[in-house]
Amino acid sequence: MGNSLGKLFIITSFGESHGRCVGITIDGCPTGLPITEEDIQREVDKRKPGVSMAATKRAEEDKVEILSGIFNGITTGAPICLVIWNRDIDSSEYEKARFLPRPGHADYTAFMKYGGFNDFRGGGRFSGRITASFVMAGAIAKKLLNLIGIEVLAHTIEIGGVKAEPKGFDEIKENIQKNPIKCADLKAAEAMAKAIEKVKEEGDSLGGIIEGIALNIPVGLGEPVFGTLEGDLAKALFAIPAVKGVEFGSGFSAARKRGSENNDLFTIRNGKIVTVTNNAGGILGGISNGMPIVVRVAIKPTSSIAKSQQTVNIKDMENASLTVKGRHDVCIVPRAVAVVESMMAVTLCDFAMRAELIPRVIK
Ligand SMILES: Cc1cc2nc3c(=O)[nH]c(=O)nc-3n(C[C@H](O)[C@H](O)[C@H](O)COP(=O)(O)O)c2cc1C
Repeated sequence: MGNSLGKLFIITSFGESHGRCVGITIDGCPTGLPITEEDIQREVDKRKPGVSMAATKRAEEDKVEILSGIFNGITTGAPICLVIWNRDIDSSEYEKARFLPRPGHADYTAFMKYGGFNDFRGGGRFSGRITASFVMAGAIAKKLLNLIGIEVLAHTIEIGGVKAEPKGFDEIKENIQKNPIKCADLKAAEAMAKAIEKVKEEGDSLGGIIEGIALNIPVGLGEPVFGTLEGDLAKALFAIPAVKGVEFGSGFSAARKRGSENNDLFTIRNGKIVTVTNNAGGILGGISNGMPIVVRVAIKPTSSIAKSQQTVNIKDMENASLTVKGRHDVCIVPRAVAVVESMMAVTLCDFAMRAELIPRVIK
């Protein structure tokens, strides 16, 4: 029930962290789009652990396999099924702590909701690993968006309280390739990496903020009142585990501003109506206004930490303590950058198709 997203470009997520695979089906993808396993693999590789200090030690190859919907390197119009087989599985720590829900993770709610029948290994359906499938769908969505000139980019702007200085789009694009933190401010990236290293030594974890930007968005995507562009983007972004906040443009800081400070004044530039500022984050009344879409996503610190924490034994109904073992990201933020980009692309692609900007048959 909760595993599909979209109206015309419909993605359905499946798989568990320590099951056979994680995967995605895409129904409604236009026919005639050239796409190869390598194209999708390139995007999935962006989500790979980039630095040992920041990331999980799980040594997955994350090899993309196309099962259906693409023939001779071109989409056929049939459902596209993409999988990544799970190979580097070690469930031993999860078996041992089966009845000790990790504070901050979904173990408790999953156990209660599914009567203990849920696949708990590696966090099962709640694992960050599921997001590899989001990135596969994102790879196709990005290709479709590129046909109409839309570009989507995400980058790290804060980790553990270390903030990046704002940079222009081209500098962001170039600089995020240069460091595993995916931060455009290279000095801040170093400080973030140090903060991660330090917290790792303390057996703890860190959160942060990712900013997503979409350029060349036409005016008119989104509908009031239940089909707003920001509503659907937020829903897609909240599907990413560990996301605890989403804001557009000036976001929560708008609550502390006056109208005269927050209003984006209209002007004409090169024969086009634009706004002088972009406090709206590119969306007015739930409809894109032609300015870049700017969204910021708050990622909480990883819940699985090496410090001893209070929990309960859910089977014996006794207080207990837990030190999480196994393989975990100290900071999820760098790996989630590609995921934020993908969920934005998937949603924007769906909206562009609803507005008939992307043809059903690509020639
Ligand atoms: C790319 C990615 C990697 C993640 N890795 C871990 C991890 O190693 N350990 C962990 O406890 N949580 C990890 N998470 C977060 C959990 O999956 C998430 O916190 C948990 O499912 C509870 O959901 P919630 O935080 O949205 O409430 C990861 C999330 C993402 C997006």
